[in-house]
Amino acid sequence: TKIAVFASGSGSNFQAIQEAIHCGLLDAKIELVVTDKPGAFVVSRAKNFGIPVYAFSAKSFESKSAYEAEIVAKLRDLNVEWIVLAGYMRLIGHTLLSAYPNRIVNIHPSLLPSFPGKDAIGQAMEHGVKVTGVTVHFVDEGMDTGPILAQAAVEVVDGNREETETRIHAVEHELYTKTLKQLFETK
Ligand code: GRF
Repeated sequence: TKIAVFASGSGSNFQAIQEAIHCGLLDAKIELVVTDKPGAFVVSRAKNFGIPVYAFSAKSFESKSAYEAEIVAKLRDLNVEWIVLAGYMRLIGHTLLSAYPNRIVNIHPSLLPSFPGKDAIGQAMEHGVKVTGVTVHFVDEGMDTGPILAQAAVEVVDGNREETETRIHAVEHELYTKTLKQLFETK
């Protein structure tokens, strides 16, 4: 299964997916990493694995459809079948959604529909929940709103954001790989 991973930040989920592929846990190939942040750490991680990166600056395009059309052209060139969002901090627009219907997935660090949007872990800590978690879902035009594919609960470590975040990330890496495997095997 040929996939593209979209990321704007550290890329730890990208790395977990690539490692799962490398050790034979996931039958897929990351053809391209797409980022809107040319300086993000995910770019160095991709280079370490020898995976091509398309880094774009949204500002230099007229519109979302303009940069998304460019992305679609690159993905088509590489015969990419699935788009895997891993910390990509932009809403997916009509151009990408219609080019990849039901073929875009995202991971979010909360039990959706609780705490969508930015800083879900901070929102959960602020709210004082005792259990939060991770959601993998299909992407639609909303913010973290598409049909849910998988969820896992994570206990909040009282008042300790760092420790809670470490737990969430560990669960993300495992859940994303597992869910992608099921998805690619059944589609
Ligand atoms: C993850 O928490 C993911 O759920 C969210 O953004 C974060 C990305 O982390 N959408 P990383 O860049 O994969 O380390």
